[in-house]
Amino acid sequence: MNLSLGAQKDLVVGLDIGSHAIKACQLKRSGKGYSIVTLGSTVLPEGAVEDGSLNEPEVVGKAIADLFNNLKIRNRKVGISISGYSVIVKKVNLTVMDEKRLEEHILAEAEQYIPFDINDVYLDFQDLKTNTKEGERTDVMLVAAKKEIVDDYLEMLRGIRLMPVVVDVDGFALENSYEYNYQTRENVGLVDIGASKMNINLISQGISVVARDIIVGSRQLTEQIVNVLDVNTEEAEAIKLGFLPIEEKKKAVEGIYTSVCTQWVLEIKKAIDLYHSNHPDHPLNRLILSGGGAKVTGLLEFLSKETELPVTLFNPFARIESNPKKIDPAYLQGIAPEMAIATGIALRTSEI
Ligand SMILES: Nc1ncnc2c1ncn2[C@@H]1O[C@H](COP(=O)(O)OP(=O)(O)OP(=O)(O)O)[C@@H](O)[C@H]1O
Ligand SMILES: [Mg+2]
Repeated sequence: MNLSLGAQKDLVVGLDIGSHAIKACQLKRSGKGYSIVTLGSTVLPEGAVEDGSLNEPEVVGKAIADLFNNLKIRNRKVGISISGYSVIVKKVNLTVMDEKRLEEHILAEAEQYIPFDINDVYLDFQDLKTNTKEGERTDVMLVAAKKEIVDDYLEMLRGIRLMPVVVDVDGFALENSYEYNYQTRENVGLVDIGASKMNINLISQGISVVARDIIVGSRQLTEQIVNVLDVNTEEAEAIKLGFLPIEEKKKAVEGIYTSVCTQWVLEIKKAIDLYHSNHPDHPLNRLILSGGGAKVTGLLEFLSKETELPVTLFNPFARIESNPKKIDPAYLQGIAPEMAIATGIALRTSEI
């Protein structure tokens, strides 16, 4: 008898280490689906994580350890996701090959596809199996992540006695969360607006066709509020979240919102135009926004008007149960957009 037969692989704790806040989400299997064990977030000091790099590993490590303690998370297996200039995602079109030959081919030819030295990166790939007929070529998704940057994260996590077993990419984690929760194959644009970057992932018939990170985000609002209203960062953050009254400065703040959000919308429209020029037969059905920046009042309506598409807020718990006695439903609803990536990671399993 094989005791491991039928045993399900472990789920990992999803850890989204953003430049503004760390988000953690732990799920468990329940019935045919999942339910939330616990989740939470903690804000990081400015500069601790920047451009996807871990500038202050000790500060971040302590923040994660405290968060795990507060949430009473005992599972040591975690998954993280990376983004920014240290990771390159590229789709290449190749002759159909079996898994082993494909791997050999990619290792041999990688430098042709990615602008990094092959020895400096972790490389992964997935055959998207886009070939429909015999003899056709197929699209293969290549991911290369700088070892130097990834290793900093792994070392930091091991330093607080966690076991990093999954390293995801923000855009893929978002897609994973979407696929599980929405269960459709409509053509959709997933846009995550964080504090310092916007991740755009446009999906046509289940396949990501436009994916990019852009250096804009909700921190722009904070910075401009600091400059225009002559307040400190904490006050600006409080104004942004509506905790501090602004009275006669209201017009100035509205002006900031309009100019920053216009820039975000222009970037999204550029990506949509690229999508439609490549896939005119499969127009986008809608946009789904996540990340803290998606919560800017009026943004969904503004974006919808500009793109002529329905725009909704991402609900990463659409098909995930939770116990209202343990997790306040109002808190869950409020934090849902920020939790999209952490949930996408938490749905991954570990084979270790
Ligand atoms: N209601 C709101 N209106 C405007 N901004 C908001 C609101 N709620 C949260 N934010 C902003 O969202 C940002 C945090 O979102 P999120 O947690 O998605 O960022 P992050 O993942 O840490 O950043 P990044 O992914 O860019 O590294 C902060 O800048 C915060 O001020
Ligand atoms: Mg983020």
